[in-house]
Amino acid sequence: MAEIDWELLRAKAIEATARSYAPYSGLAVGAAALVGDGRIITGCNVENASYGLALCAECTLVGQLRMTGGGRLTAFACRGGEGQLLMPCGRCRQLLYEHGGPDCLVDAPDGIVTVAGILPYAFGPEHLPE
Ligand code: THU
Repeated sequence: MAEIDWELLRAKAIEATARSYAPYSGLAVGAAALVGDGRIITGCNVENASYGLALCAECTLVGQLRMTGGGRLTAFACRGGEGQLLMPCGRCRQLLYEHGGPDCLVDAPDGIVTVAGILPYAFGPEHLPE
């Protein structure tokens, strides 16, 4: 597999924070991912006055994945508006598992890890009846 340009992914995630709608938490979040076919997709968080309805940046990223041709996520990075590294919340780890699988790479504070590493013993489509 070709070398992953993590600096580019991080820059795209930071760029995506500019699209964030976060008037309630004040935390702009941007996400970027490399897809199997080489394209880079992004997402930003979109909050709501009904707080619990907030869409994480990973949610809109998955929307963009599907809207631009689908495929599998191979590498993922998430950043805040100050450029700080953020890790996906529990729910979003599940989204990455669904669309990237256990081997999808994730930018983490201590280096590059896998989705399996941050979501051990994952529940997935393979556990559903046929
Ligand atoms: N947020 C994300 O966008 N992704 C995560 O994985 C963690 C949390 C957003 C949701 C909300 O808009 C803000 O961060 C504060 O929780």
